[in-house]
Amino acid sequence: MNPSGGLQWHWRAWRSQALWRPTCEQISTSLEQLEPSASELLLIGASAGWMMPSNWLQRFSKVTTWDIDPLAAPLFRWRHAAALKASGSELVCRTGDALDCLDRLLRSEPRACVFFDNVLGQYRFHCKDTQQASRKIGRLVRSLRGREWGALHEAYSGPVRRQRRGAGVPAMQRRLHGSADSAAADQAWLGQLGATGEWLDHLTSNVFREGTMVSHIAWPFKPDYCHWLQVGWVRH
Ligand SMILES: C[S@@+](CC[C@H](N)C(=O)[O-])C[C@H]1O[C@@H](n2cnc3c(N)ncnc32)[C@H](O)[C@@H]1O
Repeated sequence: MNPSGGLQWHWRAWRSQALWRPTCEQISTSLEQLEPSASELLLIGASAGWMMPSNWLQRFSKVTTWDIDPLAAPLFRWRHAAALKASGSELVCRTGDALDCLDRLLRSEPRACVFFDNVLGQYRFHCKDTQQASRKIGRLVRSLRGREWGALHEAYSGPVRRQRRGAGVPAMQRRLHGSADSAAADQAWLGQLGATGEWLDHLTSNVFREGTMVSHIAWPFKPDYCHWLQVGWVRH
């Protein structure tokens, strides 16, 4: 059983297209602002690219996707292959664990930048405990030294007060730092999402270094449950 993908994920993503549309549009806008300099992309946790706009992928001459889910490759091709063909971009879809063998992947794709596409925030569900997940995420980030890379992941998720409250909340761009101002901005943002009850920490607070410019995006996963997404890019 895949705790962050597979049939259940595809079914939910397909069924939730209207609810998630504002989130996908905000993701698209944030990706447009990233402007990677590499011409090749290694996309990890690609799934079918339900929330990935084809037009961002079209900027690359080669896109290599990785996912542990065997349904991901055919579904990703179904959703994005035509657009990539139109832009003359090569598309290679691989099935396998890209996080466990990231060092080897980086060696095999020396010219590619890397994008972790909504996968790091779910690492805790694939590990035996939260300490192991945090350790593994730390190791992944260290192995990316010298590489251009980015990520979209959950910071937190939790119940929201009113139906569809998280939908349509404007994205917010902010430099990450641990000041009192930043904590106050986080609280204000949670207020806008209509957060209530206890929120789950997705263990991604150390993915980006302090000072990284990050887009914060609301993802109303279900009408009464919202994920707080972050999108950032690291240049070396
Ligand atoms: C929330 S989904 C990603 C959504 C996707 N980016 C989209 O737009 O549809 C998380 C994906 O990460 C994949 N995944 C989890 N662990 C992985 C790993 N170690 N290597 C590659 N993919 C992984 C899961 O199979 C799942 O498809």
